[in-house]
Amino acid sequence: MSAPGAEAFESFVADLRSIYREGRDIPSLWRGIASRLETLAGDADFRRLTDEWPEGDGKQYVVYVDPDYGFAIDALVRGPFHKAPAHDHAHTWTAYGVISGWERMTRYVRTDNGADPKRAVLKETSTEICQAGVVDLVPPWSIHTESNDDNRAVALVVRSENLGGFDQTAYRDSGEIMKVRGLERIEFPILRTGA
Ligand SMILES: [Fe+2]
Repeated sequence: MSAPGAEAFESFVADLRSIYREGRDIPSLWRGIASRLETLAGDADFRRLTDEWPEGDGKQYVVYVDPDYGFAIDALVRGPFHKAPAHDHAHTWTAYGVISGWERMTRYVRTDNGADPKRAVLKETSTEICQAGVVDLVPPWSIHTESNDDNRAVALVVRSENLGGFDQTAYRDSGEIMKVRGLERIEFPILRTGA
């Protein structure tokens, strides 16, 4: 018998597969995924399951990859005072659900003309505190960063495909442009495994 939190996750995955099966256009698909993730992020049993997950700064726990639709579900467990450099997720869509703690989501736009391949000028356009239960939808190429203060923060993240197989762009505070391949990825299955 699965723990209730794992059952909530299993039903979440089944619902995402149903949403994909509906054949919606891409923005509508992602609004549907974000809305379903919001429900999971408010599920106390699921949150309790994540309370035991180890902090993994610099790591991305790969929880599930769908064999048919290719979407990937990752978990990020941030320790206190985490701050990612500004970055994008390239061409992929992301629904970023805060499960416990909180994270600060800051958005940027490039204000230079893109002529210099090594340097960019970024302007902050918004910053928002996302408490547990909130889902942030990140469209392709959106430049952003996640940060927290003295709190542990757990996020469950649905991506249109696995990161790591293509370049993402990240930006140092100096504006220097970096090509990155995401965080270290660690298998982290929480669905029933037949045990
Ligand atoms: Fe991100």
